[in-house]
Amino acid sequence: MNQTLINKAMEMRNNAHAPYSNYLVGAAVETESGEILGGCNVESSSYGLTCCAERVSLFRAIAEGYTSFKALAVATDNGGSPCGACRQVIWDLCKNIPVHICDKNGLVKTIFSSELLPHAFDDSQLT
Ligand code: THU
Repeated sequence: MNQTLINKAMEMRNNAHAPYSNYLVGAAVETESGEILGGCNVESSSYGLTCCAERVSLFRAIAEGYTSFKALAVATDNGGSPCGACRQVIWDLCKNIPVHICDKNGLVKTIFSSELLPHAFDDSQLT
C-alpha cells in the first residue's frame, strides 16, 4: 500500500468544489511509473454535470499522457465507496487494480476493482 497515494487523495479533498452537497471527495491515481495525480469532485449548478473525484483524477492522468495505472485511492469524510459510473471508468482505464477507500482518519479498506464491478462490461465485448 502506498501511503503517499493515500495522503494525496486526502489532501485533494481541500480542493473539492462541492457547494451543493458539501460532500468533499479527493482521489489520486498512481501510474505504472510511480507518478501520482490527484483529483477532486467538481459540482455544477446543473447537478447532473457533476464529475466525481475518481474520474477527475483519471481524466487528468490521461490528459497528462499516462495510460497505465497500478492503484487508486479515494478519500471522503466517512469512507464512502466509489459510485457506479466511476467503477466502470476505473475498470475501463485501469482493469484490475487495488482501490484504497479512506475516511477522514485514513484507510478504511482496500478492495480490487474487479470486486467493485463484478462481471464488468468492457472493450473485450466490443467486437
Ligand atoms: N462523489 C465522488 O466524488 N465520488 C464518488 O464515488 C461518489 C460521489 C461526489 C459527487 C458529488 O459531488 C458528491 O460526491 C455527492 O454525491
